[in-house]
Amino acid sequence: MEQKDVPRSCISMEADQEDEFLQTLPRERIWEGTPYLYHFQGFWCPSWAFHGVISFQKHFQARDTDLIIASVPKSGTTWSKALAFAIVNRNRYGFTANPLLTANPHDLVPFLEMDLYLDKNNLPNLEDRSDPRILATHLPYASLPVSIKDSGCRIVYVSRNPFDQLISHWHFLLKRSQEEAGPLVPLEHFFDMYCKGVHSNGPFWDHALGYWNASLENPNKVLFLKYEDMKEDVNLGYLKKLAVFLGFPFSADEERDGVIEQISRLCSFENLKVLQANNTGKMKGGFQKSSLFRKGEVGDWVNYLTPSMAERLKNQVEEKLAGSGLTFKAS
Ligand code: A3P
Repeated sequence: MEQKDVPRSCISMEADQEDEFLQTLPRERIWEGTPYLYHFQGFWCPSWAFHGVISFQKHFQARDTDLIIASVPKSGTTWSKALAFAIVNRNRYGFTANPLLTANPHDLVPFLEMDLYLDKNNLPNLEDRSDPRILATHLPYASLPVSIKDSGCRIVYVSRNPFDQLISHWHFLLKRSQEEAGPLVPLEHFFDMYCKGVHSNGPFWDHALGYWNASLENPNKVLFLKYEDMKEDVNLGYLKKLAVFLGFPFSADEERDGVIEQISRLCSFENLKVLQANNTGKMKGGFQKSSLFRKGEVGDWVNYLTPSMAERLKNQVEEKLAGSGLTFKAS
């Protein structure tokens, strides 16, 4: 959906009108007992995040210096947040006392609609945050607040092949349900809903295409990264590219001194997963921090999807992305 099609009138809605408005929207849920997803502005918005979305759209004022990490859930958001934080703050903290060693990446780089703007009674104070503010969103490009698009702020979008993203998402739901004695959604059903585009912030293809097209139109504004490319890039070229895009390029001395490798190690799956800050306790959303770190691999989906499921999803994604130039490596 193009920005011009977004029903902007919703954005001026008062908090007490939101529940009533929500009831007018088409809704689905992945399975009996899971939260409703509401079809809003062309995407499936989790019920609990709706107020945060409206408030973020209504109140957020971007600065030219802001750096926004964007993604569909389970695409490598945690990793990207860690990388951006480590790059931007490398001279401030160094590597032995880096906040990433003691705090979860989502606490250091909070979500706008799913964290900062969630509270119905208070607006966040973002004015006191020092520049550059590193913030995050799962919203599709079309639904971003106008000030993000109109300002000079930059957006890093991390994408992942839909096969692994789907399986990662399913595991995430499953783990949460196991913890809360909730329903265990069968994979076949989750898969079917996914192919219909019904999943948090989906459809996957619309989400990816929104940012993909924006990155083609304005590559200085939107950097489009792929999880698989980052995983296989042993020369860490993606880190250099990211640092340049964020406005914090590595100097020749830093390259020689191994600063890029240090950042890569600090933010690696293996390092982050075992830190106490990431394997004990719960996130604000109520789920275990440890559920953010599962396998961190490319191609794990082959252990779950049958050949016919894989074929169906492949065809569907190819059809949806046809002509866009966007492709994904799935193994
Ligand atoms: P898997 O479930 O396939 O293991 P998000 O951060 O967007 O929620 O995505 C979560 C996925 O990224 C999970 O994938 C998780 O294991 C993986 N992940 C988390 N931290 C990572 C890191 N530092 N490097 C690579 N993958 C990471």
